[in-house]
Amino acid sequence: MKEKIDLSKLPRHIAVIMDGNGRWAKQKGRLRVFGHQNGVLAVRETVETAAELGIKFLTLYAFSTENWNRPKFEVNALMELLISTIRKETKTLTDNNIRLEAIGDLDSLPSGCRKELQEAMDLTAGNKRMSLILALSYSSKWEILNAVKKIATAVEKKEISVNNINESLFNSFLCTANFPDPELLIRTSGEQRISNFLLWQIAYSELYFSEKLWPDFRKEDLYAAILDYQGRERRFGKTSEQIAS
Ligand code: IPE
Ligand code: IPE
Ligand code: MG
Repeated sequence: MKEKIDLSKLPRHIAVIMDGNGRWAKQKGRLRVFGHQNGVLAVRETVETAAELGIKFLTLYAFSTENWNRPKFEVNALMELLISTIRKETKTLTDNNIRLEAIGDLDSLPSGCRKELQEAMDLTAGNKRMSLILALSYSSKWEILNAVKKIATAVEKKEISVNNINESLFNSFLCTANFPDPELLIRTSGEQRISNFLLWQIAYSELYFSEKLWPDFRKEDLYAAILDYQGRERRFGKTSEQIAS
């Protein structure tokens, strides 16, 4: 399948809603946490595959604002897993020239988690091949409200005039200010919803829904998503004839 991918038409940015860990574990008669642990293997494979292909930005939805409402046991396990995974994988990221970045309400993460994350981000800050962006304690409505508050404050202080508020200014106040919008958004586990992820940024993204539960997501599934994307006509409001000419 890899040979069929047109490397000159790769999405620059792929975003993934990694869903289905709990169901995967349940199918095996195990605790949900077992699913999260196995989800890490799919993360590793997806990151490697994306970097090998030449994808420049990969955003993974790892923990939403709403996920704080899960049972304490599961939340704690996810935070522990995040710490141990970052600790284990930082060297691989460095060896592969991958930069780690994060979006979300990072201040709400436990201090151990924040520290580990910051260290890994600092260590990999010079890496250029691909940015791996983790969405942590992230929700799009939170991000948008945050941007609105900052813009309102800047207007109040007369640093910005209302007439200057446009798409590019708004973009610059989002956590994703330094990244292009994703051309492709993948969600696994068969659910077809956005769950408060990158609402502004996916205005024109191609959506791809995979039936695979996240821990089962492999190289081939990423190739399949990219091939599907490459078969689509992105019209941005224009007609098919305009796009062809
Ligand atoms: C995705 O898997 C991981 C996180 C949201 C942290 P889930 O834990 O949502 O798995 P399901 O959807 O319950 O199967
Ligand atoms: C979305 O998955 C969040 C992440 C993948 C981190 P959820 O499993 O939390 O989404 P909903 O609540 O079922 O829509
Ligand atoms: Mg889920």
